[in-house]
Amino acid sequence: MKALVYNGPERKAIEQRPKPEIAAPTDAVVKLVKTTICGTDLHILKGDVPTCVPGRILGHEGVGVVDKVGNAVTAFKPGDHVIISCISSCGTCDYCRRGMYSHCVNGGWILGNRIDGTQAEFVRTPFADTSLYHVPAEAEEDALVMLSDILPTGFECGVLNGKVQPGSTVAIVGAGPIGIAALLTAQFYSPAEIIMIDLDDDRLEMSSRFGATAGINNKDGKAVEKVMKMTGGRGVDTAIEAVGVPASFITCQDIVAPGGVIANVGVHGVKADLHLERLWDRNISITTRLVDTVTTPMLLKTVQSRKIDAKKLITHRFKFDKILEAYETFGAAASTHALKVLIEF
Ligand SMILES: NC(=O)c1ccc[n+]([C@@H]2O[C@H](COP(=O)([O-])OP(=O)(O)OC[C@H]3O[C@@H](n4cnc5c(N)ncnc54)[C@H](O)[C@@H]3O)[C@@H](O)[C@H]2O)c1
Ligand SMILES: [Zn+2]
Ligand SMILES: [Zn+2]
Repeated sequence: MKALVYNGPERKAIEQRPKPEIAAPTDAVVKLVKTTICGTDLHILKGDVPTCVPGRILGHEGVGVVDKVGNAVTAFKPGDHVIISCISSCGTCDYCRRGMYSHCVNGGWILGNRIDGTQAEFVRTPFADTSLYHVPAEAEEDALVMLSDILPTGFECGVLNGKVQPGSTVAIVGAGPIGIAALLTAQFYSPAEIIMIDLDDDRLEMSSRFGATAGINNKDGKAVEKVMKMTGGRGVDTAIEAVGVPASFITCQDIVAPGGVIANVGVHGVKADLHLERLWDRNISITTRLVDTVTTPMLLKTVQSRKIDAKKLITHRFKFDKILEAYETFGAAASTHALKVLIEF
C-alpha cells in the first residue's frame, strides 16, 4: 500500500509499505476513504514531538471501511463504515474507566505518533470496539472526518473546560481549525459574545461566517485593549487559547475577567509565563487537556442533525497521490486560505 511516511524533521515522502495485519485480537484493519492533515502533523514535521520517530506513517484522523477484525472485536465487522478516533482507548484501564481516554495506559494518542497512522491506504486501529464509531446510514462522510479530532478537541478542551454558559462572554485566541471548532461548539450554550482573535484577516472573516460576534486582528498588539473596551473593562468569562505559543497564553491572562476561566488547548513546545502577580486575586481557573474524545458520540448527533455544519471547514480537496501538495497548501494557510484539507482515496 501507499503511505505518507515521516522521515525526520522537515522530511516526509510517499512510500510503499506492507498492508497492516491484525496484531492483537482487539485490533481492526481499516481501509481509508478520507483523511486529513492536522496542525499537530506540522508540529511533528518540525521535530516538536519526540515520541514520533522517523519511519512512522503520519495521520490520526479519518473515515474508512473495516477490512478485517481480530477475534475479540464484537461491535464491528468487515464492511462497516467507521470514524477513526485520534485517541485509542482500551476501555478497561483506570483512566478509561474515568472517561480520560487520552491517558489510556494502553493507548491514548498513539495513531500517527507511536504507531502507524491514517495517511495511508490502510491502518491498523487498536482497541477497535472502544476507538471506532459507526458511521450512520446516509451520513455525509466528509463532515465526519472533523469528528476524529478537531470537533472533540475544540469542544472538550475549549468549551467544556472553559465552562461556556448562556449569556457569557467568550474570547478564542487562534482562529485555526481548532479555534473554529471551539467557536462552532461554544454556540450550543448560547454565549452572548464570542470574540475571535487572530493575526490573519481571512480567518477572522471566516469566523464571522461561523458565528463569531467580533473579530480582532492582533497584528498591532492592541487586542487586549480592544477586548477590554468591548467588555466595559471587565474582560471575558472564558478565554480559550487555541494557538500554542507563549504570546497567546499571555493574551488570555490579560483578558480573563474575575471569576473566569483560561482554557488552554494549544500544544506548547516552550515554556510560557504565568503572571500570578496580576492574577492571584482574580478567582480564575486555568485548565489544560489532551482531547479525550468522550464527546464524539454526542457531537456525531449534532453533525447529523446539522446543528453544526462541519463540512464548511473543508476548504481544499486532494487525492491521496497529491498529499504532498495538500501539506504545502495546509502549511501555507495565510496565502492559500486553507482551513481543513480533505484527502480522498
Ligand atoms: N489539546 C489537544 O488535545 C489538541 C488537539 C489538537 C490540536 N491541538 C493544538 O491546538 C492548536 C491549534 O490548532 P490548529 O490546527 O487550529 O492550528 P493552526 O496553526 O492552524 O491555527 C492557529 C491560529 O493561530 C493564529 N495565531 C498565531 N499566533 C497568534 C497570536 N499570537 N495571537 C493570535 N492568533 C495567533 C494563526 O494565525 C492561526 O490562524 C495547535 O497548537 C494544535 O497542536 C491541541
Ligand atoms: Zn490532530
Ligand atoms: Zn485504557
